[in-house]
Amino acid sequence: MTKIFFFFFIIIIIIFLQSPPQIQSQTIPRNISIFILAGQSNMAGRGGVYNDTATNTTVWDGVIPQECRSNPSILRLTAKLKWEIAKEPLHVDIDVNKTNGIGPGMSFADRLFYRFGHVGLVPCSIGGTKLSQWQKGEFLYEETVRRAKAAVASSGGGSYRGILWYQGESDTVDMVDASVYKKRLVKYFTDLRSDLDQPNLPIIQAVAKISYYQSSCGVALATGAGPYLDAVRKAQLKTDLKNVYCVDAMGLPLEPDGLHLTTSSQVRLGQMIAQSFADNIPNSAQPLYMPLLITSFCCSLYIIFLEILAPTLPFL
Ligand SMILES: *[C@@H]1O[C@H](CO)[C@@H](O)[C@H](O)[C@H]1NC(C)=O
Ligand SMILES: *[C@@H]1O[C@H](CO)[C@@H](O)[C@H](O)[C@H]1NC(C)=O
Ligand SMILES: *[C@@H]1O[C@H](CO)[C@@H](O)[C@H](O)[C@H]1NC(C)=O
Ligand SMILES: *[C@@H]1O[C@H](CO)[C@@H](O)[C@H](O)[C@H]1NC(C)=O
Repeated sequence: MTKIFFFFFIIIIIIFLQSPPQIQSQTIPRNISIFILAGQSNMAGRGGVYNDTATNTTVWDGVIPQECRSNPSILRLTAKLKWEIAKEPLHVDIDVNKTNGIGPGMSFADRLFYRFGHVGLVPCSIGGTKLSQWQKGEFLYEETVRRAKAAVASSGGGSYRGILWYQGESDTVDMVDASVYKKRLVKYFTDLRSDLDQPNLPIIQAVAKISYYQSSCGVALATGAGPYLDAVRKAQLKTDLKNVYCVDAMGLPLEPDGLHLTTSSQVRLGQMIAQSFADNIPNSAQPLYMPLLITSFCCSLYIIFLEILAPTLPFL
């Protein structure tokens, strides 16, 4: 009888410790971990976006995979600089002239939020933009800085944790854009870190995908992006800046337009970015692991006692 009681008691403790922390009220958590999402269409998210031939418009299929589901611990800064529980599409009120779908942000956050308690995503990406538009002084740059600072201010002491950057396709068309890509990228990262007073802020960069996909007859087709893809990829892989990490989007399946990652590719990409973050920035707290470890340890001790030691004790 007591055996069964203790068994359930321990199971309940384990379940309790594994459940994610919840927002107690609608108040904003004080020390939220802030991630900036910047770049062009594949960061904004086009997964599940297709041409509806009946209406001749682009629509999102509305499918939100399990890996991208909302969670009270993951917030999003709206265009009006308010926090809300994040849900796909994350860029719906940011990249307003395009149809947004699934991007990498939610699957990234779903993988990592347990390390931080609360994650605050700050979407800033706009489809079709070139790196020259992200340089200091340009609208997109200043918007990013404004939104990032508002994110900290409105959360009463949040901390910047990283920048997720996925851009480059638009710079593969023109030779000049491609040849100065590295210079512009280094300047952009350095300026942004400096304006956020975070000279070492981690940057995880998704390297521009290849513009080939397998057609139904098995032939790799060249589509979409321009002829200077290799030059842009090389520049992205060699920024020589500290704390800039790359994940390679090469080979992830694309939508039939040959340009945009599918929903499942975006899920995968978000998880790859999360993995890169976890591997390279290991010092962030993992608050839920410790109690779990302690519980398992006590549980094992108890079972050892019950099954091995207790029967040998004459007075039990
Ligand atoms: C929709 O059709 C246009 C051409 O009309 C094409 O350029 C675009 O890539 C298509 N988009 C998708 C998601 O298939
Ligand atoms: C659909 O819209 C595009 C422009 O967005 C236009 O070029 C095309 O002719 C339209 N197709 C039909 C069937 O209306
Ligand atoms: C959307 O389009 C309008 C009109 O062309 C333009 O003024 C605005 O800057 C665009 N916004 C974005 C985010 O691209
Ligand atoms: C937020 O948490 C991080 C570590 O988890 C810590 O370094 C930082 O000082 C905290 N900030 C505030 C305002 O409490």
